[in-house]
Amino acid sequence: MGKIERISGPLVVANGMLGTKMYDVVKVGEKGLVGEIIQLRKEKAVIQVYEDTTGLKPGEQVVSTDAPLSVELGPGILGNIYDGIQRPLEVLKAKSGSFIGRGITADAIDRGQKWKFNADPKIKNGATVKQGEVLGYVQETEFIKHYIMVPVGIEGKIKGLKSGTFKLDDIIAKVEKGSKTHDLTLSQKRSVRRANPYNKKFRAEEPLITGQRIIDMLFPVAKGGTAAAPGPFGSGKTVIQHQLAKWSDADIIVYVGCGERGNEMTEVLNEFPELKDPKTNRPLIERTILIANTSNMPVAAREASVYTGITIAEYFRDMGYSVAILADSTSRWAEAMREISARLEEMPGEEGYPAYLPKRLAEYYERSGKVEALSGKVGSVTIVGAVSPPGGDLSEPVSQGTLRVVKTFWALDFNLASSRHFPSINWLTSYSLYLDDLEPWYLQHYGEEFIANRREAMKILQKEAELKDIVQLVGAEALPDEERLVLEIGRMIREDFLRQSAFDELDAYTSLKKQAFMIATMLYFRKKANEAVSAGVSVDRISKLKVREQISRMKEAREADIEQAEKKIKSAIDSELDSIMEEYREAVDKDKVVA
Ligand SMILES: Nc1ncnc2c1ncn2[C@@H]1O[C@H](COP(=O)(O)OP(=O)(O)O)[C@@H](O)[C@H]1O
Ligand SMILES: [Mg+2]
Repeated sequence: MGKIERISGPLVVANGMLGTKMYDVVKVGEKGLVGEIIQLRKEKAVIQVYEDTTGLKPGEQVVSTDAPLSVELGPGILGNIYDGIQRPLEVLKAKSGSFIGRGITADAIDRGQKWKFNADPKIKNGATVKQGEVLGYVQETEFIKHYIMVPVGIEGKIKGLKSGTFKLDDIIAKVEKGSKTHDLTLSQKRSVRRANPYNKKFRAEEPLITGQRIIDMLFPVAKGGTAAAPGPFGSGKTVIQHQLAKWSDADIIVYVGCGERGNEMTEVLNEFPELKDPKTNRPLIERTILIANTSNMPVAAREASVYTGITIAEYFRDMGYSVAILADSTSRWAEAMREISARLEEMPGEEGYPAYLPKRLAEYYERSGKVEALSGKVGSVTIVGAVSPPGGDLSEPVSQGTLRVVKTFWALDFNLASSRHFPSINWLTSYSLYLDDLEPWYLQHYGEEFIANRREAMKILQKEAELKDIVQLVGAEALPDEERLVLEIGRMIREDFLRQSAFDELDAYTSLKKQAFMIATMLYFRKKANEAVSAGVSVDRISKLKVREQISRMKEAREADIEQAEKKIKSAIDSELDSIMEEYREAVDKDKVVA
């Protein structure tokens, strides 16, 4: 047992700590605040404390728990809302009111609840089981089987495995190796700072479908991939993360609210229990774990919240699920690192951030991936991070460190946001490096036309941007009609496809199938309009067609009606364009006669 020597904000220096290890969790002071040893020199330890240190005094005791920072994993974890060190907010509130008291302990998972455990009948007692092996499952929610796995580091002969009704801490089997016996329960602990081992990593091959049109169509992220959304204040980072949490087709969502305003988190907490999964019609909260570490909570806990989140994500990945972890905002985590580093008087790197910032960011994103777990099941962790560069300037260290490692980049744009074009993802500067890897998947599910249409849409947007520069110089009248038509179609794609309201019930989510129909319809219009323009019809005439309105309202079509809507609009395109072509021909013929 050591004693506090000095307190500096979230850091505590303690002496008498001989026998402790780096990254051990310690209980600090009379209240037993949770901390972690982050520097150890002989008998002196520097401890980062995850709770408010106000009121701590030198001389108070420090006790090591002899264990690294860990999370508890087991049935009952889904639907929880935790703070950074995995204490359920509800329980904390019940114990201490809305200001979280210090040194409060709370079980991460309800220990009283009984679960029906279904042992895998193929595993015979006396057989050798390996680390990570699945022993059976608990039906945690209607759609999620919670597989019970042998914890990492344990293997041997299994004894007493049977189905039954158990509480979290009841022994479900024993594993013997030599003279040692391990009791297995429905739960296990995992240390958060190390990636959990797996058999092998695969190349990404399936997109995470988000229901957000600009993402799914132009800049997709793969299941098991990484994406970052950097942008200035008010550009829509939080709304995008919320949209992904609500609508993306991962099996499990881990949402980490890290250092952002509390009221945003309250919105999530109020809204989520009400929302239904469009696929299963079950409450979305049943597949979600929320970790709330808002700006009014201790800074050091931001770091813990990110690691807690990713460790939970890996756990469900190991069961064979696709998991998406969304962190808003990784910049606040980096700022916490900067604050701690400054207090440690470490040599500052760029802009005061510690020199190890890029390494930490890279290690975090490297915990993504589609893997074959030790269980033999294939699951994935997709990591999406919001980044909040001051003033939106991406040359700063957190953005740079992130962009070096992520493969999808959604550039949130101040100008788009201020003109209320949302999501404000800039289509000219954003990118996805997954397009080639995902191509076979699109081919298989949506055919060649889908891929061709995406390319064409992107080309039109790029061409539009070039032409707009020219228009600025010489005016639109100087452009030939074919190019003026590109401007028209570019605008159509931007306003009627890319633009998407997160707050409109029908618009918030668009299936990929509907997206494909929308783009195909716009490009069909383009083709027919091109023919008309080539024949001599003016672009002004085309831009006034009634069917334009129908195309722009396609986003409002119900998912179930989309095929029909497309047919109707296509035939309207045909008839309107045919009739102006006809008019035009008649006019030309009349001129000829007059001449
Ligand atoms: N997809 C969207 N649809 C509609 N409005 C949006 C969308 N994204 C952002 N907004 C608007 O922009 C505001 C700021 O977005 P927010 O995500 O809070 O920004 P940030 O987190 O980048 O500071 C929101 O309150 C909302 O009014
Ligand atoms: Mg925000």
